[in-house]
Amino acid sequence: DKGNHRHFMAKEIHEQPEVVGRTLAHYVDMANGRIALPEALPFDFAKLSRLSITACGTAFYAGLVAKYWFETIARLPVEIDVASETRYREPPLERDGLTLVISQSGETADTLASLRYAKAQGQHSLAVVNVPTSTIARECSVVMPTLAGPEIGVASTKAFSCQLTVLLCLAIAAGRARGTLDAARERALVDALITVPGLMAESVKLEAEVEVLSREIAKARDVLYLGRGTSYPMALEGALKLKEISYIHAEGYAAGELKHGPIALIDETVPVIVIAPHDAIFEKTVSNMQEVAARGGRIVLIGDAKGAADHGLDTLATLTMPDVDPVVAPIVYAVPVQLLAYHTAVFMGKDVDQPRNLAKSVTVE
Ligand code: M6R
Repeated sequence: DKGNHRHFMAKEIHEQPEVVGRTLAHYVDMANGRIALPEALPFDFAKLSRLSITACGTAFYAGLVAKYWFETIARLPVEIDVASETRYREPPLERDGLTLVISQSGETADTLASLRYAKAQGQHSLAVVNVPTSTIARECSVVMPTLAGPEIGVASTKAFSCQLTVLLCLAIAAGRARGTLDAARERALVDALITVPGLMAESVKLEAEVEVLSREIAKARDVLYLGRGTSYPMALEGALKLKEISYIHAEGYAAGELKHGPIALIDETVPVIVIAPHDAIFEKTVSNMQEVAARGGRIVLIGDAKGAADHGLDTLATLTMPDVDPVVAPIVYAVPVQLLAYHTAVFMGKDVDQPRNLAKSVTVE
């Protein structure tokens, strides 16, 4: 049932404040401002020397964001790869180490094969999955569910934001176990998490603006997405979302990589979508925006009021997001990124819920 929406994807984007809130309620002890995981862990985060993450597609990008979180919050080194590589690369994995798999469906063939490989190496396995009855959920030693509800649109939206939510809660729990964050810092992070559903609801209000912008994006043959830090995986996710439903060629890059190749593509025909909340590395991203502007590139900034006031450049559009704690920014910024892909594809008359050549769950490799 699409409710009042034209497509499942639209419904699922709009549902995010609610399902992220529901997921949070499952992981957060609101009264005490701390994380309370729904299940005991069969391993100790404090004893791990590293964490291996594997997943495919959008779930992989959620894992890439989580790498930043686990490394900064819990000082836990993270190794991450797409599951189709992990399974055949056969990486050396320590006995009693931890492999984290992320999957909406819980049936993705490569992710499942990587999980089985990790288990055979004697690793503990933790799954962040949306379908609790899935094969991956059954085969993992511990499951941390995303409570997104059924996701019907082939393009993953609400499952992604719920994955990020669970992963941040896990990183905080890991930080506590490893003694890298004190109670006050944990409370501050939890306070930031609690603001997320409201901020996502506010971000949805940018929809009319995004819709106007999407008509411009629809004319492009190629689109570049740039971001730094956790906005880098968001750039990759933005590009994937756009290409899978609009069939416009899109690439996501770490903003700092611009000079190492992609800058050669810049001209007035290639919109450059810059994902940049006003965080500690914002100024670095501004210098990349200047490089784009100097070559006649048309910039779309997805940022906040502070950033918009600071950069002083002409943009094709600026989507002014509410102020967010930079730690939780990827969860909130998922909204405009998804809306832009959605409206561009709808404007182009594409079948957004069932894009060509794609299946909702990839159960064969
Ligand atoms: O069910 P999974 O999360 O394991 O699926 C992984 C990918 O196939 C999936 O995220 C795919 O990339 C989506 N179509 C992206 O929107």
